[in-house]
Amino acid sequence: MKKVRIVNVVGARPNFMKIAPLIKKMRRITRFEPILIHTGQHYDEEMSDIFFKDLELPQPDIYLGVGSATQHAEQVAKIMIELEKILIKRKPHLVVVVGDVNSTLAAAIVSSKLHIPLAHIEAGLRSFDRTMPEEINRIVTDALSEYLFTTCPDANRNLEKEGIAKSKIFLVGNVMIDALLSFKEKAAESNILRNKFSLKPKEYALLTLHRPSNVDDRTVFAHILDALKRISKVIPVLFPIHPRTQKHIEIFKLKNYLACSRIKPVHPLGYLEFLNLMLNAKFVLTDSGGIQEETTVLGIPCLTLRKNTERPITLTQGTNTLVGTDPNTIIQEANKIIAGKYKKGKVIKLWDGKASERIVKILSERL
Ligand code: UD1
Repeated sequence: MKKVRIVNVVGARPNFMKIAPLIKKMRRITRFEPILIHTGQHYDEEMSDIFFKDLELPQPDIYLGVGSATQHAEQVAKIMIELEKILIKRKPHLVVVVGDVNSTLAAAIVSSKLHIPLAHIEAGLRSFDRTMPEEINRIVTDALSEYLFTTCPDANRNLEKEGIAKSKIFLVGNVMIDALLSFKEKAAESNILRNKFSLKPKEYALLTLHRPSNVDDRTVFAHILDALKRISKVIPVLFPIHPRTQKHIEIFKLKNYLACSRIKPVHPLGYLEFLNLMLNAKFVLTDSGGIQEETTVLGIPCLTLRKNTERPITLTQGTNTLVGTDPNTIIQEANKIIAGKYKKGKVIKLWDGKASERIVKILSERL
């Protein structure tokens, strides 16, 4: 039997929960030979290794170890150089990329230049804000893909407007929700809340922050922290800090905001512990992409500290609200939640835990 060699490329934290359910399903098809390549964009225990353990992901077959770089071009270029050598040697029949990080973009360019078909999982999301590095990564990756797997109808519309043939677009649902639903029960068993943080369910807010637009500019970052400091007078705010954010707290000398408030800074957490904290939070404040979707599925109120989102379905159908970075708006919306006056979301079609199954079925019919 001729094997179908499929190279799956991951690099950064938000990739791991998307590839885990997919690799699991690919391994069940005997004809498929999935290979996992980790670029090393995120490289340490907290941002990478723990996710492999928590998500029961096999260790990468190949680790490129590119590490991080201050400039995007340098990071993308390093990944391209290393990945090109591997793809020439291994000659895969398909390259699969997920999400919108620099590793996604680098793998998309290299594989299409080598004429290897490319599948993009989570295609078609658009914030229409090209100042976001991820938006450029999404547009370029989608333009180069042969198979575009989408999570929601508006992603299909975005792709069609960009001139991508309908025959390449497949509405399959959300692989990240596959991971969420399969690990939710296990995550609920964790004692992290009581044992590590001495907190009780629904008596804290959970915060994540790492977008360059929020943390690379001192004025914006200080405004956000000011709002959070005021919210923390009413409810404690647990804050697992991303490395980029930690770096800027130090550079901008913003530690005071954390020291003189009930904002509790902690190290980045693993998948299961963070999922437990989302499940039990009164509400979540974030600038992440994926967390907007996860809170919608869990029915937890989410305030997104951005002007726009590439995931508008979480606003119209889910529990998400865009609050930008103006302290008054952030506080106003947080107060609504605390007063029990916040909207309730509904379940989104096809976010049912079966997206990876659908993707593998489509691929096995075509490859
Ligand atoms: C990247 C993604 C972003 C994603 C985010 C989630 C791009 C353009 N951005 O942003 O879409 O939402 O990951 O985490 O790809 N660092 C560590 N340890 C690590 C990883 C990173 O200390 O394991 C440090 C780096 O040294 C660097 C900073 O974190 O100083 C930023 O890392 P980088 O990969 O440039 O982008 P992120 O901000 O993490």
